Amino acid sequence: MLDDVFLESDIVRCANPRAMGKVPYPAHLESVLSDSMFAQARAEITRWPDYQPTPLHCLPGLADRIGIKRVFLKDESTRFGLGSFKALGGAYAVQRLLRQELQRAEGKELSLRSVNDRRYDQIKKTVTVATATDGNHGRSVAWGAHMFGCQCVIYIHAEVSEGRKAAMERFGARVVRIDGNYDDSVRQAAADAARNGWFIVSDTSYDGYTDLPKQVMAGYGVMIHEAVRQLPADAGCTHVFVQGGVGGLAAAICSYLWQNMGQEKPKFIVVEPDLADCLLRSAIRGEPETITIKSETIMAGLSCGEVSLLAWDILSLGADYFVSIPDVLVAPSMRLLADGVAGDPPVVAGESAVAGLAALLVMAGNPALRDEFEINRDSKVLLFATEGATDPMIYEQLVGRKVETVRDS
Ligand SMILES: Cc1ncc(COP(=O)(O)O)c(C=O)c1O
Repeated sequence: MLDDVFLESDIVRCANPRAMGKVPYPAHLESVLSDSMFAQARAEITRWPDYQPTPLHCLPGLADRIGIKRVFLKDESTRFGLGSFKALGGAYAVQRLLRQELQRAEGKELSLRSVNDRRYDQIKKTVTVATATDGNHGRSVAWGAHMFGCQCVIYIHAEVSEGRKAAMERFGARVVRIDGNYDDSVRQAAADAARNGWFIVSDTSYDGYTDLPKQVMAGYGVMIHEAVRQLPADAGCTHVFVQGGVGGLAAAICSYLWQNMGQEKPKFIVVEPDLADCLLRSAIRGEPETITIKSETIMAGLSCGEVSLLAWDILSLGADYFVSIPDVLVAPSMRLLADGVAGDPPVVAGESAVAGLAALLVMAGNPALRDEFEINRDSKVLLFATEGATDPMIYEQLVGRKVETVRDS
C-alpha cells in the first residue's frame, strides 16, 4: 500500500486549453529551440571531461504497486558529480558566452572548442559571469566558470541552505546572500551586473534577455536525448511528468519530444509546488502570470514566481496539463525512492526531484484522477529524478537515513 498521505491529498490541476500537441512542432517554435540547437549542445557537452549518461531505472515494483504497466525514472543524481541535470545548462551557456567574448576580442569566428585554448586564458580571466540561483543552476554556472577559466559571482536568497552555498564556493565563485526571495535575487544580480560590466547567465528568460537561456535549455536536451535512447524499444511511454520551476527544463523536454515524436508525443504533465505555481496560474489565465511567493516551498529548486518567457512559448502549446502539489508529499516520495518498492533499486532523489513522482502517486491512488489523466494498467510513465542529495543534511532530515546508507542498501 502507498503511504496514506498520497491517498488523502488532492492536487490542483488545469487541462491546458491551448494544448496543440497533436499537431507537428510549430515552425515559430524553431527559433526558441530547434533540433540543431539540441544537437550542437550535445556535440559539445558529451566531450566535456567525465561525461557519462546518467542511468534510467525501470521500477517494476512501483509500477505494480500503483497499478500501471511501467515506471521509468531518469536519475540525475550523478550528473557530472554536481548532482543535478542543471550541470548541463548553465555551464554550457558559460562556454557559449566565452566564445562570444573571445570572438569579439579576436575579431574572428571561433569554434566552441577553442574556449579551452590556453592562448585565450588572459582574455577569459577578464570576463565575469553572474547569476541568481536557489542552488543547482548557480552550481552549474560556478562549475562552468571554473572549467573554462572566468570569474563568477552568484546571488542567493535568504532561504538557500549553507550546504548549497558552500558547494558553489568550492568552485571558486563569490557567493552573495541577499534579503528576500529568488525573484529579488534575480533583480539584484541584474542590477550589479549592469553596474560592473558582468554577464548574466540566467536559466530564465525575460523581455530582452533570451539568447543564453535558450542555450541553457538546449543543454538540458542532453538528458532527454539520453533517456529516449535508454528506453526499451517497445517502451512507448504514455505519460511524462516533469517538475517545473521557471519551466525551462519542462520546455526543453517537451520541445525535444514534440520535435522527435510529433503527434506520438506522450501526455505531458508539468508539476509544481502549490507554494510556487506560476506555470499553473499562467495556464489558467492564458498568459504569463507572476505570483508572489508567500512562503518558501521545501522544493527549493522549484521556488519561482515568474515563468521563463521562452519556456512559456513552448509549454503553453505543448503541455497537456499543469498540476500543483503540496509540500507534505515530498518527504514520503523521497523515502519511497530511497527504500525501493518490492526490490526496485534504491534511488537518492532530493527535495526538488520528486514532484513529478508525487503527482503520479496521488493520481494513481484516486479513481477519479485516474480517469481524468487516463492512467490505467497499460500506462507507461517517464519521470525525472532531477537532483540527488544536493544538500546531504536536508536529505538526511527528510529521509531519515544518510545518503551513503541509502546508496549502499
Ligand atoms: C532539481 C531541480 N528540478 C527541476 C528544476 C526546474 O527547472 P526549471 O526552473 O528550468 O523549470 C530545478 C530548477 O532549479 C531543479 O533544481
